[in-house]
Formats: sequence, C-alpha cells, structure tokens
Amino acid sequence: MTDRYAVIGNPIEQSKSPLIHTAFARVTGQDIDYGKVLGPLGGFAQAVDAFRAAGGRGMNVTAPFKLDAFAYATDLAPSARMAGAVNAMKFEGERVYAENFDGIGLVRDVVHNLARPIRGQRVLVLGAGGATRGALLPLLAEAPAELVIVNRTLSKAQELAALGRQHQKGAVPVQGLGYDQLQGPAFDLVFNASSSSLTAELPPITAAVFATGALAYDLTYGKGLTPFLRLAQQAGVSHLADGVGMLAEQAAEAFAWWRGVRPDTQDVIRQLSVPLV
Ligand code: ATR
Repeated sequence: MTDRYAVIGNPIEQSKSPLIHTAFARVTGQDIDYGKVLGPLGGFAQAVDAFRAAGGRGMNVTAPFKLDAFAYATDLAPSARMAGAVNAMKFEGERVYAENFDGIGLVRDVVHNLARPIRGQRVLVLGAGGATRGALLPLLAEAPAELVIVNRTLSKAQELAALGRQHQKGAVPVQGLGYDQLQGPAFDLVFNASSSSLTAELPPITAAVFATGALAYDLTYGKGLTPFLRLAQQAGVSHLADGVGMLAEQAAEAFAWWRGVRPDTQDVIRQLSVPLV
C-alpha cells in the first residue's frame, strides 16, 4: 500500500515540499504519496488528527504551524527542543515523533554542497529569530573559531548566544551583539538568518563584515539577489548562496528519517535554483 505524507501550512500553495519529496521517491524507488494540507488557522491539531486517521505516516510543517507542531508532538528530538519549533513529524500509533532538520540542512548544504568547511572559521549570523535558533547548535557542532549573532533587538541576540555557550560548554566563543557593536576582524561565513529578505530590506551591516574569500549565505530562497547578497557582491564577495540547498537538504533528512534511505539532492537543487542576479 502507498504510504501517505504531506506538508501542512497556511498558505500552502507555494510549498515546494511535494515536488521535492515526489522527486526523492522517484529516484529512490519508494512508494509514497506526498500531498499538501491547508491547515485552518486555529485548527492545526484537528487537521493533523484527520490526516493520521486516514493513514498518514508523516508530515512536514511550515508557517504558521511550527509551534503548534511543537505542542502536538509526543516525542521531541533535541533538534526540535533546541529550535523551539518542529518541521517534520513521524506518526507511529499514538506517538508523534518530531524533528527540526533546518539547521542540519543548512550545515550539510554549506559543508557538502558548497564545500565550505565551518571548522575554524569566523561565523556571523544576522538575526535572532526562529531560523537562527534552529541553526545555532548544528553550526556550533562544526567547531567554528567564533560565532557572532547580531540582531536589531540586542536582548534576543544575547539570549541565543547564552544558549549556544551553555550547550557546548565554552568550546566555541559565542557573542550576541547589536548591529552598532559589530567591529573587529571580518567574517569568513556570513549567514543572513533574519527575515529581511522576505521584505527586500537590507540588514544594517556594511561591506566590512565580509573577509576576503568569504561566503555570503541568505537562508531565504527563490528571491534571486537579495539586498544582503547584493551588498556582498558589491563588496567583492564571489561566493554567494541562497537557501535552496538548505531546503533540499532538510527535506532529504526528513525523507531518510521516514524511509531509511537518503536521496541525492543535486537534481532537486538544480531544478529549484533561481539565478542570483
Ligand atoms: P524566523 O522564524 O524567520 O527567524 P522571526 O522569528 O520572526 O522569523 O525572526 C525574524 C528575525 O529577523 C528577527 O531577528 C528580526 O529582528 P528583531 O528581532 O530585531 O525584530 C530580524 N529582522 C527582520 N527584518 C529585519 C531587517 N529588515 N533587518 C534586520 N533584521 C531583521
């Protein structure tokens, strides 16, 4: 019998997950059906209950339901606990196992696809919201030389920096700063994990944050050359990336978790890539 999976969100039309998982199923020979569920606002649990009752085996979760999924889960993986949000669920009888693969997806994209080791590098992360929270421990696990979180609201950057320090016992120096406090040597890896690219805004950084040979990575995908990436390009940064690889890699992690086989992501990344111009 074909196993059923779906992504739930509101809105949901824009989701690339069905395309990605259907492609993964084809190349791995897995017999699955992957659909879309428009979750009613305030009706997440009922919609998931209905999907499970109809035999659904697992779901991806997108906005605005990542916190609802956190509350709905019976078994939260450390990645989900740390991110405070869930982006993948697996249903086994009464149990609802929950994961968050966004951070590991980001790290896999950088280290494997872009062939940029994080170990020993100076890392700057812009923003201190959900995206940064999810990426924090996977980034620190790679042992960068230093990790700086910068945010408009200083307290949120400081809070995440403290969380990061606490979880890796001081092995990597982690700082939380306001944009006006950014100074000192430039960074090898600069991640825009703020939501600025969704509104085509530029976070208040200058070209000075980019070290020679730096990678500028915008976690948003499909927006082409965002103001952040444009600044990097104008600063002479030649390694630019958006979050399409992260999207594909988090999906591959979920697929492997559900099906026990990890698909190659290259075709999907090629299909979904938008030129950075
Ligand atoms: P997400 O889940 O996408 O991370 P979020 O939790 O709402 O979304 O967090 C959005 C982050 O982007 C926040 O860190 C926000 O900064 P503040 O905490 O100071 O509000 C940041 N952000 C949004 N727009 C921005 C902009 N134009 N420039 C810089 N940072 C921005």
